[in-house]
Amino acid sequence: MMKRDHPDVAEILISADELQARIQALGSEISAAYEGKEPLLLAVLKGSIVFMADLMRALTVPHAIDFMAVSSYGAATQSSGVVRILKDLDEPIEGKDVLIVEDIIDSGHTLEYLRGLLLARNPASLRIVTLLSKPARREVDVPVDWIGFEIPDKFVIGYGLDYNERYRDLPYIGVLKEHIYG
Ligand code: IMP
Ligand code: MG
Repeated sequence: MMKRDHPDVAEILISADELQARIQALGSEISAAYEGKEPLLLAVLKGSIVFMADLMRALTVPHAIDFMAVSSYGAATQSSGVVRILKDLDEPIEGKDVLIVEDIIDSGHTLEYLRGLLLARNPASLRIVTLLSKPARREVDVPVDWIGFEIPDKFVIGYGLDYNERYRDLPYIGVLKEHIYG
């Protein structure tokens, strides 16, 4: 079976080529914004790792990376707004230019919580890049500096995004067939 013909995918929303083109453009914009600086890219595990890996290679400014793991309680396809830290950063971020790298913003609760937590640690700056955003689902207004793609209110998988830990390896963003999670 070819990955691009995965039987659980109803529709390919964003192709591998479209992802790469957009990430190159984001890389240029973000590099320009951090000219002369050395930002810390903070990826939120696990969904952001594929985006992070490509975004890093599209940046022309020197940068460091770190990871945090958080879990939001609630059903597999819905965020409850209650967030728990499973893995914290390795180093303090005081005085650093931090860029949060997210896979998707849905309700915004995860990011809102994370933003408050990181701001309390006094970084020099805190900005946010997300590959995907579902504006129709937003419950809290988080200031996002860069958005890769705005997508409709559908459950998507691939390019790092999972459903019950599956499909992260798909090279595109696809819509999961409803009967899989319905
Ligand atoms: P939020 O707190 O509602 O913004 O949820 C953000 C998190 O929910 C993301 O980091 C994902 O892990 C997960 N999530 C939200 N929507 C989707 C989706 O369509 N596919 C896969 N994961 C999603
Ligand atoms: Mg997830």
